[in-house]
Amino acid sequence: MTTRIDLRSDTITRPSREMRKAMARAEVGDDVYAEDPTVNELQKKAAQITGKKDALFVSSGSMGNLIPLMILAGRGKEVLTHKNSHIIHYELSSCAAIAGVTPIQVEGERGILTPKNLESHLRDESAYDMPRVGLIEIENSHNKEGGTCYTKDQLKDLQDFAKKNRIPIHMDGARLFNASLASNTPVKKICSYVDSLTFCLSKGLGAPAGSMLCGDTPFINEARRVRKMLGGGMRQVGILAAAGIYGLENNITRLIEDHENAKKLAMVISETSWGHIDLDTVETNIIYFDTPGRKAPEIVDALGKKGIIVGAMGPRQIRMVTSLAVRNEEIDEACKIIRELKL
Ligand SMILES: Cc1ncc(COP(=O)(O)O)c(C=O)c1O
Repeated sequence: MTTRIDLRSDTITRPSREMRKAMARAEVGDDVYAEDPTVNELQKKAAQITGKKDALFVSSGSMGNLIPLMILAGRGKEVLTHKNSHIIHYELSSCAAIAGVTPIQVEGERGILTPKNLESHLRDESAYDMPRVGLIEIENSHNKEGGTCYTKDQLKDLQDFAKKNRIPIHMDGARLFNASLASNTPVKKICSYVDSLTFCLSKGLGAPAGSMLCGDTPFINEARRVRKMLGGGMRQVGILAAAGIYGLENNITRLIEDHENAKKLAMVISETSWGHIDLDTVETNIIYFDTPGRKAPEIVDALGKKGIIVGAMGPRQIRMVTSLAVRNEEIDEACKIIRELKL
């Protein structure tokens, strides 16, 4: 059999047999009437896990980011976000195109925003001709900066700053559980520093679709309306919610393995002549490395010929992501191939 080790993303995970059984067993109802018992159970569970009052099942992480932009910021406001955030690069400018919000791209080491990075972007609220800052958006873990995570202290500093300036915080926690495990901070603690957050069921947790949006009850009630406005009101969607429940109950603690596998890959890459990586940046399941002497597509191609599928993220940058879609033996095989790849 030819080797095929797919390290492009943790979104390639497929529902396991056990997860599919849970989906087949799911009781369903019309979720637009809030009558799907399995969705209601998932929402209750997500609220409990994050320590928020309420939660809403949404179709994707992108929708989970867009809804708070519409509700907490709103048209004509600014959102302060890291220059490499997912909402800047990979959500088709929906913040501007749909929410009517101006994204302000803020600097921040390894994707982490600090009060120091943010303070120069504050606006004089009494000015008649300036927009107002409506929202701070953070990403934890930070995808494009290499899966990096906030510490408790960094989150606390941000919360103090945001409160002082009366600006809400939304957290894109697509990989919230990775961040919690890697930063050794309980999920509830992380979530206590932000007003709203989203996390994905369809990445490392292995579900085929869906994300959870969490926050206080008035926010979630409004989010339910906005979800419908965006065409995201789904009907007997308990089948998908059952996969999410299964992922939350079975696939969180194993994320540690993905982090260890990412470290193994990073170590091997650091020893090659063609890849450059700062090992200290590898905190979770995402690694980015530079290819200073070669164009990234050349290396992507060479790895592809040996059966390792990865993506170029820039002219001289490659990303690898570990997940339950790639078994430990496959990681060992990938390490061997990378070690032996001569360019
Ligand atoms: C950090 C981050 N936020 C949001 C998303 C969006 O998730 P979705 O693809 O479900 O819209 C992703 C997807 O990769 C992501 O990595």
